[in-house]
Amino acid sequence: MTHNPPPPKLSLLPESAPFTPEQRAWLDGFFVAALGLGESGITALSPQDSAALLAGAGGAAAAEDDDGAPWHDQTMPLAERLKLAEGKPLRRRLMAAMGQQDCGQCGYNCQDYADAIFVKKEAKLNLCIPGGKETLRTLKSLYTELDAAPAPGPATNAAPANAAPPAAAPSAPLGRSRDTPAEAVFLSRTRLNKPGSAKETWHIEFDLTSCGLDYVVGDSFGIYPSHDPALVSAVIEALGVSADFPIRGRALRDLLTDSVALEVAPDSLFQLYSYITGGERRLKAKALASGEDPDGDAATLDVLSAMEKFAPARPDPEAFVEALEPLQPRLFSISSSLKSNPGRVALTVDTVRYKIGQRARLGVASTFLGERAAPGAKVKAYVQQAQHFALPQDPAASIIMIGPGTGIAPFRAFLHERMATKAPGRNWLFFGHQRRDCDFFYEDELTGMRAAGVLTRLSLAWSRDTEQKFYVQDRMREVGRDLWSWLADGAYVYVCGDAKHMAKDVERALVDIVAQFGARSTDEAVAFVADLKKKDRYQQDVY
Ligand SMILES: Cc1cc2nc3c(=O)[nH]c(=O)nc-3n(C[C@H](O)[C@H](O)[C@H](O)COP(=O)(O)OP(=O)(O)OC[C@H]3O[C@@H](n4cnc5c(N)ncnc54)[C@H](O)[C@@H]3O)c2cc1C
Ligand SMILES: NC(=O)c1ccc[n+]([C@@H]2O[C@H](COP(=O)([O-])OP(=O)(O)OC[C@H]3O[C@@H](n4cnc5c(N)ncnc54)[C@H](OP(=O)(O)O)[C@@H]3O)[C@@H](O)[C@H]2O)c1
Repeated sequence: MTHNPPPPKLSLLPESAPFTPEQRAWLDGFFVAALGLGESGITALSPQDSAALLAGAGGAAAAEDDDGAPWHDQTMPLAERLKLAEGKPLRRRLMAAMGQQDCGQCGYNCQDYADAIFVKKEAKLNLCIPGGKETLRTLKSLYTELDAAPAPGPATNAAPANAAPPAAAPSAPLGRSRDTPAEAVFLSRTRLNKPGSAKETWHIEFDLTSCGLDYVVGDSFGIYPSHDPALVSAVIEALGVSADFPIRGRALRDLLTDSVALEVAPDSLFQLYSYITGGERRLKAKALASGEDPDGDAATLDVLSAMEKFAPARPDPEAFVEALEPLQPRLFSISSSLKSNPGRVALTVDTVRYKIGQRARLGVASTFLGERAAPGAKVKAYVQQAQHFALPQDPAASIIMIGPGTGIAPFRAFLHERMATKAPGRNWLFFGHQRRDCDFFYEDELTGMRAAGVLTRLSLAWSRDTEQKFYVQDRMREVGRDLWSWLADGAYVYVCGDAKHMAKDVERALVDIVAQFGARSTDEAVAFVADLKKKDRYQQDVY
């Protein structure tokens, strides 16, 4: 199967629209860029939808997009983002409500998702995983404005919040988007930490030969996980019905296992409790449903603990399931290359486990991969093509990769690819984690690549081996002169891993290095790094 076919030339404007050929070409270009339509995995808007976007935006879509989306920063709190978007047209406020990671988990970029909601092409408001409940609440509230306004486009009825992903159109290739998953075969898990580590990180492999999926390095792999059976049993027990209770033609246990989210208790569940409880509990349920935190425990309430909080009230099982959100797929950066490992895909997964009160909480997808998926099991999965995260076209270009923790994943893939294709470009990896003795992922492989000259430089940073934390950006500063010299020679920079802190801190360090060794003022250094980003020479895959 070939990958990345050239995108078809899209014409988005109705034939009858009164534009000159030049205006038409400019507008088509604008929409293709603004809506990311040239890129795979995102549904192209129909001519009617794009005309609706124009009309709904008062014909000023281009001017709006000149606002630079100053809220597009994943570290900025939602309230601040919304403030920056105050007074802006609705589609821009919708965008400001998103998690701003452009992580692709919803199947779009933040702006594309907002625009798709605006033209009523996308009915689901609950797809933004980084934004969580806050984003969902804001989108719902903004949606009422959209409902009040004349429909900007062909209205679709909002799907029930926990509707299953739409069935694949007969011709849609399976495994190319979250709505059309294929079945990959789970092969193996291998622990990457040695004894004594505080982390639990796994190298996971899937076989793709039976589903025929392919990918390129830089892409991510989306998987539909299933819940821990013990959690499902506890929820069924709290409901007080049989595990076989039939709902939507399936047994309750099966539905709870793979179709609905049991992590964060949604507002609609509290709403449901407000109908079936009385007195103070009813008021509390109502308050929780509207985003208040009457007992200071809102952040700890998953579905089971919400049920325990409002026991002995027991919702009707069907109403209960209706009140839950659908179980969303999770993305993982691919850490292998088909060129060196045909028919396989590898992931590098940190297992999320924490305790609240007496109960251990499990990250659903990471523990599914880290402990529950059985070798040989078929798992619903898809490839999320990377947007702006790829090796340089020129195999001779140098690359600098900065990936602490699981951030190493796509860089292992890059290195395998560069080795398999005998790319002559230099490769420099910054890796770091807590402790050298037990958290040096892929140590043998990396030292082997270093010895073979594939890995030109390997710079390491162990945060907990010394009294003072020492991070990848500290190592970068130490070797700043050499880093600058690679940059000045045209190297590409890649960052992968934690979005909230690491990615910002690494960017700050790079700015300082450019200022110090490139003899620039801070403003000039900031502009230099911004220019690297614009030229796709600074690419990020952060989550
Ligand atoms: C593009 C992309 C690439 C990614 N690549 C990778 C990768 O290569 N490797 C990888 O491991 N992950 C990666 N992720 C993250 C991954 O998708 C999942 O988000 C992660 O595995 C957690 O999912 P989960 O289902 O296990 O946890 P969930 O069930 O979603 O639980 C996670 C949630 O639990 C809560 N939580 C976590 N810890 C605590 C705590 N200590 N106290 C209280 N609450 C807590 C938080 O609300 C958190 O959001 C990537 C994400 C994206 C978007
Ligand atoms: N939201 C958050 O606050 C947060 C923070 C970290 C990770 N995560 C998430 O946890 C998941 C798994 O993480 P992971 O296994 O990849 O490892 P990780 O927890 O990201 O840690 C990898 C390494 O990065 C270090 N680190 C911590 N803060 C840093 C910073 N500001 N700059 C540079 N390095 C920093 C860690 O050090 P120390 O642990 O010793 O500080 C550790 O050595 C990811 O999904 C990630 O997004 C979230």
